[in-house]
Amino acid sequence: MGGSIITFRKEWESIMKRSTVTLGIMGLIGFLTACGGEGPIQPPPPVPAEYAGKHMPAGWWTDPKIIEEGKKIFIGEFNIDVNCASCHGKDGKPVKRGARDFRTKERMMLYSDSTWFWRISEGVPHTKMKAWKEKLSEEDRWKVMAFEHAFSHEGQPSEHTDYKPAAPAAAGSK
Ligand code: HEC
Repeated sequence: MGGSIITFRKEWESIMKRSTVTLGIMGLIGFLTACGGEGPIQPPPPVPAEYAGKHMPAGWWTDPKIIEEGKKIFIGEFNIDVNCASCHGKDGKPVKRGARDFRTKERMMLYSDSTWFWRISEGVPHTKMKAWKEKLSEEDRWKVMAFEHAFSHEGQPSEHTDYKPAAPAAAGSK
């Protein structure tokens, strides 16, 4: 009698262990899906004419002083009203759903400096990403961008030489 109870308990425990692992995995998948809510990688829309001529000042992509200042802007140290990290995450891991993950190189290499600058300046309509041009000077926008850029390069300063514009849509041509 007692023997069978022990056997039963052992079996029960092993079932519980397995289901805990399963639940854990399911939870993890759910978590990743919820946090990674960025959707498929799509090229950004074409940059408006007024931003097309804007470019990162020479040498700024890799200038440690510029990047350091960009970091201060990004984490809200420069101005508490400007805290990119409150959504995009201090270490580039988004903390708010849908916020762009700058570590995703495949996406960020589709952004020219002008497009990236335009988005910081004017925001993305119908999303939590607002326009920052009232709060950040042009120089500050370039600085914060130089800092953001390092996220897709393992935190190391880098020229944006991996910029690769998406091929124009083939459909409907000719
Ligand atoms: C309140 C949350 C929030 C804050 C604060 C915020 N962002 Fe964003 N950001 C977002 C979201 C959400 C998106 C994704 C928008 C979309 O769906 O295209 C985004 C997208 C972006 C993009 C990519 C735009 C695109 O076309 O995909 C850039 C660049 C960016 N943010 C930079 C910044 C910078 C720089 C700051 C600080 C000055 C900042 N963000 C502050 C939420 C935020």
